[in-house]
Amino acid sequence: MSFKPIGIFDSGVGGLSIWKEIRDMLPYESTIYLSDSKHAPYGPKGQKAIIDLSIKNSQWLIDHGCKLIVVACNTATTNAIDQLRNKFSVPFIGIEPAIKPAALQSKTKKIGILATEGTLSSNLFHKSSELYLNDLSIIEQVGDGIVELIEQGKLNSNEMRDLLIKYLKPMIKAEIDCLVLGCTHYHFLKPILKELLPKNINVIDSPEAVARQTKSVLQRCKLSNNEVLKVESQFYTNGNQAVIEDLLKSKKVKLKKLEF
Ligand code: DGL
Repeated sequence: MSFKPIGIFDSGVGGLSIWKEIRDMLPYESTIYLSDSKHAPYGPKGQKAIIDLSIKNSQWLIDHGCKLIVVACNTATTNAIDQLRNKFSVPFIGIEPAIKPAALQSKTKKIGILATEGTLSSNLFHKSSELYLNDLSIIEQVGDGIVELIEQGKLNSNEMRDLLIKYLKPMIKAEIDCLVLGCTHYHFLKPILKELLPKNINVIDSPEAVARQTKSVLQRCKLSNNEVLKVESQFYTNGNQAVIEDLLKSKKVKLKKLEF
């Protein structure tokens, strides 16, 4: 058993979608969320830079006493999780685009994936998608500009709608029936996507699966906290604090400035 916090990081506010699931599924666990918004988006940076930023974030969380780290970012997971696991001794949980559930659900055998350039060009993503290419066509779309708008607090803007209409059009034309959200920021687009997509297209993302995996790894490593002591959720950001408060729909969160 361990009372230490779970560390969660993302290139910005997207991983809050995973934080919410972890808080709901593991109510006795304390968490420290690191939002590296100053360096967002990670997607176009190239693998070396993504690895360096992921190492810096993980080191910071470990220095703040975290017992396990959730890489709440598809781009960091698909580009850097092996290096993180090699470098540090704490367990790491990552997130990748949920191709498997989409492949199982799809009737048209055509699925769309909206993700960052860094995720779609990664070896890990290629390896995972190749497994399904025999009986599935995958329409990939880089979501250029979406992360930036969310980081600027423009989730519900006309600019966002215009971008999404542009990105969704070829997928709808290709008759996909599942859209995989391959970036944790995109989880917050779900209400808009519901309006923009035809009813037969299911939107798939995986914050809940990540929380389940976190729970099972904590149990396996005997790191769970089963006692209600003082449970604390701390948030650190080097970006705009109001965006975090908006997405969490609360002004009472324990939010501090991240100094890097
Ligand atoms: N939330 C990150 C992800 O899941 C966003 C990546 C970025 O910063 O480009 O990929």
